[in-house]
Amino acid sequence: MTENAPPSPLVLLGFMGSGKSTVGRELARRLGWHFCDLDERIEKAAGATIAAIFAQRGEAAFRELEHHELLSALGAARQRRTVLALGGGTFAQERNHEPIRAAGGVTVFLEVPVEDLLLRCAGMANRPLFRDEASFRALHDYRLGFYRQAALTVAAGGGAPPGVVSERVLEQVRGWRPAP
Ligand code: S3P
Repeated sequence: MTENAPPSPLVLLGFMGSGKSTVGRELARRLGWHFCDLDERIEKAAGATIAAIFAQRGEAAFRELEHHELLSALGAARQRRTVLALGGGTFAQERNHEPIRAAGGVTVFLEVPVEDLLLRCAGMANRPLFRDEASFRALHDYRLGFYRQAALTVAAGGGAPPGVVSERVLEQVRGWRPAP
């Protein structure tokens, strides 16, 4: 590993629509690392879409699957350097913090103003937790306190393209090390 390579796994978190998957893919491409999208992993393991899991089994069952697949993704990330994109709710579950911390990587909050998020998510049918504007804003407010516990925060709103956001992430994570 080169001196200023970021720590692995590089964990992206933030609200739905913040660009975790798109930016994550771009980062993995630039770094030559493996990319893991937690939502995709859950869908593969369950043999069902996220929307179907929510509809048929409920949110609590989804969170169980999410926790299980997170542990498995973090385990796999020990074998190869990985960019891991979480789901919007993953880091809002307290029990997921310790395994992420123990994996020894870096957490990055992709911060996008809620107005941008509303615009980005409005037309998306595949997000079971996007019901209406008021509940979207309330959920966002509630989760901000969790997201702000990430080691680093990167501005990802205002129409910044994925390449620009990736560059900002790389600038911050290179040379970043956890406090001893
Ligand atoms: C969720 C966000 C989704 C997905 C699931 C739950 C949430 O991921 O994990 O629908 O709780 O905010 P994205 O953030 O990728 O949309």
